[in-house]
Amino acid sequence: MKELKILAVLAVLVGITYYGIEPYAHHEMHPPVAPADFTYNGKQEVALYTKTMDEKLVAATENVAVQTAELAKATDAKAKEAITKKLEKAKSEVATLPETAKAEAQRRTDFWKTANHTAALEGNVTNGKVLVDANCIACHGIDAAGMPMAISNADAAASYGVVPPDLSSAATIYDAKYLAAFIASPVDAMHIQEKYSPESGKTFPMPSYNWMQPQEIADVVAYLKSLSVKKLEGKEAHKATFEAACGRCHSMQYAKFESTTPADALKTYMGTTPPDLSQYIKSRGEHYLHDFINDPQALLAGTAMPRVGLTEVAQHDVIAYMEEIGDPKKDERISLGIYTLAFTLVFAILGYLWKRKIWSEVH
Ligand code: HEC
Ligand code: HEC
Repeated sequence: MKELKILAVLAVLVGITYYGIEPYAHHEMHPPVAPADFTYNGKQEVALYTKTMDEKLVAATENVAVQTAELAKATDAKAKEAITKKLEKAKSEVATLPETAKAEAQRRTDFWKTANHTAALEGNVTNGKVLVDANCIACHGIDAAGMPMAISNADAAASYGVVPPDLSSAATIYDAKYLAAFIASPVDAMHIQEKYSPESGKTFPMPSYNWMQPQEIADVVAYLKSLSVKKLEGKEAHKATFEAACGRCHSMQYAKFESTTPADALKTYMGTTPPDLSQYIKSRGEHYLHDFINDPQALLAGTAMPRVGLTEVAQHDVIAYMEEIGDPKKDERISLGIYTLAFTLVFAILGYLWKRKIWSEVH
């Protein structure tokens, strides 16, 4: 009976670790974020923005108190002047932040509303082709329409910072609402407004087509949808989606894939080198990747990685590919588990019988 008691104690301890400590530690190390959202209605983004601005306001209010106290303590005229400057700045922040935040939150909400409205319109393929030919193929290739990119990858990287992706599969891999939003304003759709703020002095290489009427944007999307791309299945689809959606920035060395944009150009364009993704399925895990790709800012505020606006299916394809390359033995490992358990069980029974036999002689 002693053995059973030991087993019970062991089971309880393992249970506490597995169901109690591990989830708790996980929760502490990865603060909860809103899960991947494929509605593309801007709600999560606006909520995150409002929260960030609220925090900024709290910090600015505290700063006013700090500077006021500093000013009271200061004796030297020069120091006083410097502190007064800081105090004025903090005060003006406190005064303007709420209005700025409210206006920007409203702008973003309206932006996504328009994109949703646009995506619901019936597009005209013929007019879409005219618009794409006039506006997009100067930078983008469209293989499926027999139009390869006009210049080499190296020249494209030199001109735009990053190689514009081929648009053949754009309407398949990107969500229609995202695509409508992206054409109207790439920076807003990608959720990288901070990086391209007016103060940054940076301009995004692809222009905003906000001069197009919603109907015209719907036409562009309809044309992209009409392109006959070869329907791929399984691993082929996973690889193609990864290369189309991530391949201009990320390499996958384990699959001998180099990003289409040369590495040094990328560093200049992004401000940091996008990591090789061969092992990210292991270091970050599937769960994290799902939330991250869907809206990088939600997990890594200020990151240079843009949102890529994939459909849920396309995002699954990308992660499946990362798993096939980074963890190719996963299925084998999981199917081996049952044999390992069976082996342990047989071994335990044998061990028990053996023990009984030995002790029966002693007693
Ligand atoms: C002046 C060059 C230029 C023109 C013109 C242009 N693009 Fe782009 N486009 C780019 C660049 C550069 C990128 C990649 C930017 C990045 O990833 O930071 C891009 C990216 C994209 C993406 C990928 C979006 C994503 O989330 O990954 C789509 C889709 C796209 N463009 C569609 C279009 C369409 C449709 C048009 C015409 C209405 C167009 N582009 C016109 C340069 C251009
Ligand atoms: C326009 C370039 C660009 C595209 C397109 C892009 N990424 Fe990234 N990505 C980056 C950059 C830059 C970083 C580094 C971000 C940083 O260090 O803050 C990054 C970082 C990452 C990371 C690391 C996150 C972490 O926790 O450290 C992952 C995972 C990732 N990207 C996955 C993807 C996937 C999957 C796709 C395609 C669906 C993709 N990226 C498309 C530029 C890009």
